[in-house]
Amino acid sequence: MDRDEQAHGATTPGPGHGRIQVRNMARVRSRQVPVVVLLALGAAACNRAPVPGVARGEALYDTCTPCHGANGGGNQKLAAPAIAGLPRWYVQAQLEKFQAGHRGGTAFDTTGIRMKSMSWSLDLAGDLESVAEFVAGMAPTGPAPALQGGDAQAGQATFQVCAACHGADGKGNEAVHAPPLVGQSDWYLLAQLHKFKAGWRGASPVDTWGATMRPNALMLDDAAMANVVAYIQTLQ
Ligand code: HEC
Ligand code: HEC
Repeated sequence: MDRDEQAHGATTPGPGHGRIQVRNMARVRSRQVPVVVLLALGAAACNRAPVPGVARGEALYDTCTPCHGANGGGNQKLAAPAIAGLPRWYVQAQLEKFQAGHRGGTAFDTTGIRMKSMSWSLDLAGDLESVAEFVAGMAPTGPAPALQGGDAQAGQATFQVCAACHGADGKGNEAVHAPPLVGQSDWYLLAQLHKFKAGWRGASPVDTWGATMRPNALMLDDAAMANVVAYIQTLQ
């Protein structure tokens, strides 16, 4: 019997050949055991603990590309924001919020739900941190303004309140967990203000920092939101 027949015989044993094949296969197997065991152990170790870090983050980012883009610049059609260059602490906190359902936790929030489902794929130890590190290291894309009609001058007065946490330059403040607003798409900022106001974001009793933002959205009507977002665009 040649090697080929033997290999085929192992899965589709024909009449009369059975015993020889079993014995041959047993010999082949016993010789391969150490290799097989090593391969199995190696694969198990990989599955359990991919080495965390920026290289792992880059590999994971492939799964983010369809919505956030290869350069992390976002995609308005998919309601996916620009994320390239956001601070690591903020990306990590938001991914954790999506996983916990503090974002994307209500049935009407279809775009939040889209991201929440995605966040659940980061389920191996260190993956969430690794992808946050990679995203934070990407060059910011500075998306162009897409909205019209906001009165930036009127928005400037409103922004004085926002500046207390997000900074007069809109670059954010880690000490109060407030993200940068400059460098973000205007349509996304506006959508998030509406989400805070509707209680789709910042309303969970355990989302401490989200709760500090919500009252600021509650005090704005639609026009005031459009105006303050128009002003933020002038800070870019
Ligand atoms: C199926 C499309 C899709 C994929 C894939 C996806 N996202 Fe998102 N992501 C979104 C959408 C939509 C939002 C906005 C959600 C909202 O409005 O609450 C979002 C929001 C975010 C935010 C919040 C940004 C901010 O300024 O608050 C982060 C961070 C983020 N995504 C990271 C990732 C990472 C990292 C991956 C890959 C592991 C990923 N996303 C994959 C669609 C996606
Ligand atoms: C008391 C501090 C505080 C003030 C004042 C404040 N914010 Fe925030 N803001 C936050 C925090 C904290 C977050 C992050 C919330 C979270 O983690 O979900 C946030 C998030 C946001 C986001 C979401 C950004 C993103 O990438 O998803 C927008 C938009 C925003 N703020 C706009 C404003 C505007 C406009 C004002 C003024 C009208 C304002 N904020 C005032 C603390 C504040």
